[in-house]
This record gives sequence, structure tokens and C-alpha cells, in this order.
Amino acid sequence: MDRDNSDFTSVAKSMELYHQATRLIPGATQLISRRPTRYAYGFSPAYAVAGKGSRFTDVDGNVFIDWVSGIGATILGYCDPIVDDAVKRQIDSGTMYSVSHPIELELAELLINRIPCAEMVRFAKGGGDACAVAIRIARGTTGKDTILFSGYHGWHDWYLAANHDAGGLDSHLFPGIDPIGVPKALTKTAIPFAYDDLDSLSVLLDAHQHEVAAIMMEPLRSEFPSNGYLQGVRNLADKYGVLLIFDEVSTGFRPTSAGIQPLVNVQPDIAVFAKSISNGYPMGAVVGTREAMEPAAQMFISSTYWSDTIGIRAAITTLEEIEKRETTKTIHKIGQQLKVAVNTLLQDYSLPATCSGVDWHPYLHFDAGHDTRLLNSLFIQEMAKRSVHMGTSFYINEAHGETELEETLSAMRDVFLIIRNALDAEILPDLIETIPQVDLFRRLVK
Ligand SMILES: Cc1ncc(COP(=O)(O)O)c(C=O)c1O
Repeated sequence: MDRDNSDFTSVAKSMELYHQATRLIPGATQLISRRPTRYAYGFSPAYAVAGKGSRFTDVDGNVFIDWVSGIGATILGYCDPIVDDAVKRQIDSGTMYSVSHPIELELAELLINRIPCAEMVRFAKGGGDACAVAIRIARGTTGKDTILFSGYHGWHDWYLAANHDAGGLDSHLFPGIDPIGVPKALTKTAIPFAYDDLDSLSVLLDAHQHEVAAIMMEPLRSEFPSNGYLQGVRNLADKYGVLLIFDEVSTGFRPTSAGIQPLVNVQPDIAVFAKSISNGYPMGAVVGTREAMEPAAQMFISSTYWSDTIGIRAAITTLEEIEKRETTKTIHKIGQQLKVAVNTLLQDYSLPATCSGVDWHPYLHFDAGHDTRLLNSLFIQEMAKRSVHMGTSFYINEAHGETELEETLSAMRDVFLIIRNALDAEILPDLIETIPQVDLFRRLVK
């Protein structure tokens, strides 16, 4: 990358490609979270051509510090040399064959040795994919159909079916999703429950006794739940004889090198991983107790590329490196520093906002009573102009260091002053040059 972060020009080429994509690719991007409307349309980059460490270069030649970290997938930084070298060596001896490669067992053993609930393992290629496998196993193992869920779990029919009952996904994904193409026959097979509310879960379990296969949930995202909540969910699962599944795709290996379970001290029956498991290579894993997983041997759960060795090699190397380099310590330290520094700046400019949340995934939120939609948009727009790619929640990766922190805080100083002046002069709408944000993932971020 031969340009630095002070060189932001425009994202004209990105926008041109995006318009072309709308004609070639329905929805334009493969992942909704990559749509430029999710950031500052016309200012945030939409297409990248290279990445290294904490930064990527877009098609217009701008170099951005990236606090989105490949939507959480990048935990060691872009193009980590050790992971990439291991993958390149793997490619040289073949990426897949007509039979399995022994590294499947190596990764299975690594996960079993590391993750508290893991006694058996299945692989997949992404988060939604792995969640669908987990749901199939839970339904097959229990012989029941109904899933009670909380959080976001991918794009598959089992999950989107919740919106055949009006608004099922409104507070778990985002409002207004029409479950087009999802069979109506699945209505009432996936029922949402409110996070951090044991009573509502208990009422649902009672109402659907003998029908529920599993409680599927994100154990947490940016905030810890109330004390004892996750243990309470575990107790309810045991009481009603249903499986508990933790979707750890988003938290991944940032809380600890073994995921979230050692930190919350609660073990699910099944846990799902993807994203940070392999530092950007396609991979997903479903792990669980022998009792929950073993019946899967009788189920039709089968796909050619789940044996692909690139993702598996990347996962083995990433997990080993996370432990060797004590990546989680670095991530927690930078996240903590970021939170403290951003809060200090917010106070300096008397802005009605706070930076809070867990150290590995903090977020900025403007206080209720202000136009948060416009404030978020102005913030993202002005940070993009200063070559910092971020939304309002931040995935820390190991390549974020003191330099990235300083450059980001320096940009924030300018941006917070702009926001302060906009609020004082009551000209906030006049400063929005982008399309104000619309379809934010709300999920569990409080
Ligand atoms: C908790 C959770 N589950 C599942 C998924 C889906 O993963 P993927 O996009 O790899 O299919 C995501 C993606 O953001 C996630 O955060």
C-alpha cells in the first residue's frame, strides 16, 4: 500500500462499481453488512482490493484503518503472514481430494481440547451454514421441531421463518424483513425470546412443552447480560429437557482463546463458530457434547466443501496463533484503551454519547432524545473522509495498535468538534451529505 491515511480523495470508483453491481447481482452485495448504505453512502468504501494488518486499500486507492475487521472475521489482522503461509503450503499439496484429509481430525481434536462443551465436531464453511447444521442436529437428536431463539443466526429458512409471525425478527435482526421464499409451512417453528429476560423464556417453554428441540442464542454480543442469566437459561433448558445452543459466531475467539464459555462459566450442549475461527478464510464449526452430537451420524448432513483444507488449515493455524501470541490480551487492551480515550474525548466536547461494551467489541451510542440516526450518519461520514472505516460498533483485531489508536482518535477529535458545532448551531441535517442510515442490525447491542 503506497498511500497513507491522509490521502482520502473520493470513493467514486467504489460507487460506480456498486451501481454496476445492482444490475448484475441482486442485492448488489453478498452480505447485507457490506452494503454501502450500512455506512456512509458516497463516502464509505464499497470495494477493497488489498488489505494488510489493520488497514485496507479501496478501489479508489484510499487506505483506511478498518475497525470493522471483515465484519468480525479478521482477528489477527488482514494477510497474517503465518496463517497465509500455512494456507499457501496447503494449497501446494492440494485443497481437497476425493477422500478426506487427516487435518479434519487435527482441527476436531484442537476444538475438543479447547472448548469446554466440545466432545464431537462437525465442520461447515460459514456462520449461517454452521447454525443450520446445529439446528438440524438439535431437531434430529430430540425428535422435536420448535426452536426458541434470541439474536442473529444467518439467512436460512429455519430462522427467517420467524417472520411469518409478524415482527419475529424485528428486535433480533432488523425490522421490516419480508420472509419471501421461506415456506409458510415453517410458521411457528422458530419463536423469538427476549434476551436477558428469564421469565419470558420460561413462559415460552411452558407454552410449548414437548415441542421444543432447542434454545438457540447468542450468549452475548456487546454487553454482558444480568448476573446469572446464562446459568438461568441453562437451568431452564435442563428443566424442560431441551438442548442449549450458543451461537458464538460473533463473539468467536475474542473473549478468550476458547470462546465465551470459560468467561461466562456456562456450558451449552452445542456451540457454533465461524468468522474469527480462521482469520478470513471460509470455515465454520459445530461442536457439542457426545450426547447431543452423536445422533448426527444417522442424519443426512453432507457437503463437498466442508472438507476443503484451506479453511481447516487456516482455522488450525489461527487458533494456534491466537493462543501462542496471546491475541485476546492484546485485543482486550486496545479495546479498553479505545473506550477510555473515546469517552474522554466525548467529555471534552460535551457530547451526549458514551463508548461502552465489552473490550473486544465496544460501541459508540448517542443518548436517547437526540437524532441518533443523523448523529451516527454524520459520525461515520466524517470518519470515512478521514480514512477511518467504522460503523458505531468496533471489532478489535490484533493488528490494531497504538498507531491506529492515535490516528483514529486524532480523526475523532475533528469529527466530535464538527458534531458539537452542529448541535450548538442546530444544523445537524445540513451537514449530512450521505443517505442517513436506515437498515441497522440491532441485534443484541443494547
Ligand atoms: C451470531 C451470528 N450467527 C450467524 C452469523 C452468520 O454468519 P455468516 O455470515 O458467516 O453466514 C453471524 C454473522 O454475522 C452472526 O453474527
